[in-house]
Amino acid sequence: MSQKEKVVLAYSGGLDTSVIVKWLQVEKNMDVVAICGNVGQDERDLEPIRQKALDIGAIVSEAMDMREEYAADFLTRAIAANALYEGVYPLLSALSRPLISKHLVDVAHETGALYVAHGCTGKGNDQVRFETSIRALDPDLQIIAPVREWNLHSREEEMEWAAAHDVPVPTTKDKPYSIDDNLWGRAIECGVLEDTWNKPPDDIWTMTKEPSEASHEGEEVIIGFTAGVPTSINGQEMPLLDLIIHANDIAGRNGYGRLDMIEDRVVGIKSRECYECPGALLLINAHKSLEMLCLSAETLREKQKLDIQWADAVYRGLWYSQIREAIDAFNVYTQQHVTGEVRIKLCCGGLFLDGVRADRSLYDYNLATYDESDTFEHAKSEGFIYVHSLPHITWSRSQGPGSR
Ligand code: ARG
Repeated sequence: MSQKEKVVLAYSGGLDTSVIVKWLQVEKNMDVVAICGNVGQDERDLEPIRQKALDIGAIVSEAMDMREEYAADFLTRAIAANALYEGVYPLLSALSRPLISKHLVDVAHETGALYVAHGCTGKGNDQVRFETSIRALDPDLQIIAPVREWNLHSREEEMEWAAAHDVPVPTTKDKPYSIDDNLWGRAIECGVLEDTWNKPPDDIWTMTKEPSEASHEGEEVIIGFTAGVPTSINGQEMPLLDLIIHANDIAGRNGYGRLDMIEDRVVGIKSRECYECPGALLLINAHKSLEMLCLSAETLREKQKLDIQWADAVYRGLWYSQIREAIDAFNVYTQQHVTGEVRIKLCCGGLFLDGVRADRSLYDYNLATYDESDTFEHAKSEGFIYVHSLPHITWSRSQGPGSR
């Protein structure tokens, strides 16, 4: 009997990836190694999920805690880059896929598998991120995307196939949304949200309180940073993983962090997306305001452009790329003095910056002040303005308002 080929599958425990565990055995005659990553999603207990893959016939099933690695290697860089796709979305799904991909590739190498599989559809961004990451890490691995390949066109057909092949079918009525969540927030798509004029139903939100029901006093929070990395909340130092969990909690209970946007997918589709990212948005906003104190005007201008490019690259699945690494190198330099504290008031869904200080600030009180400690040499501005305006005066006389 010839040995079966092995395939490493990114397994979530949901209907799609459960059907895939069986489908790979039935349709591809392969042995399935199921990998379920803990990236801080709401589903905390991964043991039943791990067991479920075995029950459906996986030869190996592993649940891996990837949270610390996610925070240390991915989220610190996202914070340094103030990463917001199209200026809005903190990239929670885009950041987790390259991390999961790395583990899939590692497990493929450990088990001698030549194939890797995922449960993404052919319309989304996540297929692009998984496959681009896997190819960058090991171009020789073959990728299987069953959902793109099979002929199960509706949820009903999929459930029938599952029932016929002894794959457990969800008994409770599923939420009519597609949800992805991790430490960095939650993404909610599909269902009634597909009509862009429909108001997001109240039941889509789980990390954030309805803003009008949050405490009217709100809450003050002080975020401390060390070289661009958040290291304390209200004076209490903690590892980034704990700090993000804390930040999600504080911002979420104050109704802060909901987003509703029309987003441009990699595959050319505009889609309506709702997100709740209380911690991510709190930390990115705090970080931006500290950078304004610590970076020169020119560095800030350049960094704003690179921040956009970083977010675009990561959104498009280019985590393992030269451009992302190059911008990160720029950020290692820019972040070295981004050390200090930011005070923020969170109240009824709003975020208000109300104080910032840094160990090595570029703000000079004596230059800025209008009181008697002012050291700025006012008279010198005259000469500066003379030279500064010279070319514009020439232009004005020759072609501009002064010539008319
Ligand atoms: N649109 C977001 C992104 O591309 C969220 C994707 C969420 N994935 C999901 N399977 N629901 O990053």
